[in-house]
Amino acid sequence: MTACIVGWSHGKFGKLDGETSESLIVKAASEAIAHAGIEPKDIDVIYVGNMNGGFVRQEFHSSLPLQAHPDLRFKPSTRVENACATGSAAIHMGLNTLAARKARFVLVVGVEKMTELNSAQAGEVLIKASYVAEEANIEAGFAGIFGKITSAYFQRYGDKSDALAKIAVKAHRNGAKNPYAHFQKEFDYAFCRNPSDKNPFVAGPLKRTDCSPVTDGAAAVVLADVSTALTMKHAIAFRAAEHVNDFLPMSRRDIIKFEGPALAWKKALGAARLDLLDLSFVESHDCFTSAELIEYEAMGLAAPGQGERAIHEGWVERDGKLPVNVSGGLKAKGHPVGATGVSMHVLTAMQLAGAAPAGLQLPTAKIGGVFNMGGAAVANYVSILEPLR
Ligand code: COA
Repeated sequence: MTACIVGWSHGKFGKLDGETSESLIVKAASEAIAHAGIEPKDIDVIYVGNMNGGFVRQEFHSSLPLQAHPDLRFKPSTRVENACATGSAAIHMGLNTLAARKARFVLVVGVEKMTELNSAQAGEVLIKASYVAEEANIEAGFAGIFGKITSAYFQRYGDKSDALAKIAVKAHRNGAKNPYAHFQKEFDYAFCRNPSDKNPFVAGPLKRTDCSPVTDGAAAVVLADVSTALTMKHAIAFRAAEHVNDFLPMSRRDIIKFEGPALAWKKALGAARLDLLDLSFVESHDCFTSAELIEYEAMGLAAPGQGERAIHEGWVERDGKLPVNVSGGLKAKGHPVGATGVSMHVLTAMQLAGAAPAGLQLPTAKIGGVFNMGGAAVANYVSILEPLR
């Protein structure tokens, strides 16, 4: 155990007209520093997680947190990018900085302002996180990539549309209780299961309700070394933090095996000396419902091809043996790419501190897992968190 989350903030996710990445960063940074109970001058190093790639014209984001307070001027700050795992990548940079004893307090802000573009234009930006030489001509942007993965999964194991619809229903039922979520309403099974004008096919077997939305938002954490964290009001420790990258081209992998995610989970559980079911809950990267389905297999909850059992048998519901995405996940909460990994860590820290919003708080939250993924199972990050004391 080398580091802890000692402060956090989470803004409302959604279509945030009138906000800019600058305003979102400033608010998230100020609130996280205040929540940690420290002064801006105490921050030693800053990382900003932001994918951008054309969502907004302002590409150079590293100094924007300095707008939060004059005492942040001249602090070293760097923008970090690793596709949809950008937020976790920024947190890992913070953990590395603490491990190298280059800081006592690190501020990590994750941000994305996506809705200045329409969905089709946003898809054009997101497809840059595929292996462009072979995959970028697919229709429907990144949804097309997961449409292809989902079709391949259905071909090998049979049509799992029932399971995907149930995963969407679960996400929205949970998300309805999350005040930070983009969508705070329930969707029933019939709506998610059946294509309609309001729920059309987007890519392959994936319908609109199988996709995470295009969302704006920011979240932030303050990280500190363990001895410093012992003196702090909030202290949620990293029991493990593992990062595994796989080949980028899908043609070089058996894409429905999610081998990178599986290895990241194996390494993290090994480092933490835990079995999967020792975790009280998991926040997992459900950019598409089929991603969550395959992740059940990658984390070791179900055998290959049997991921549907986890949802059909209720294992991943709030009251199941391993609740997955109690927050509503990316599906309901939204997926502002650079903010997502930070958001997952914040919501996990809140659960473990007993400080989650009322409808979200689990009765028993002792150890939490986070899985954040960039690209199609390419950049894979698993964190295992628990209260320091
Ligand atoms: N799930 C459920 N409802 C959604 C939705 C989603 N993902 N996205 C939009 N909606 C709703 C809107 O709220 C709106 O509802 P209303 O008519 O009641 O107001 C309606 O659908 C139309 O919204 P619109 O934005 O016009 O939809 P769209 O068809 O342009 O976009 C997607 C829908 C799924 C194509 C778009 O959200 C998308 O591209 N998602 C994937 C993003 C992605 O690839 N992220 C990276 C993953 S790695």
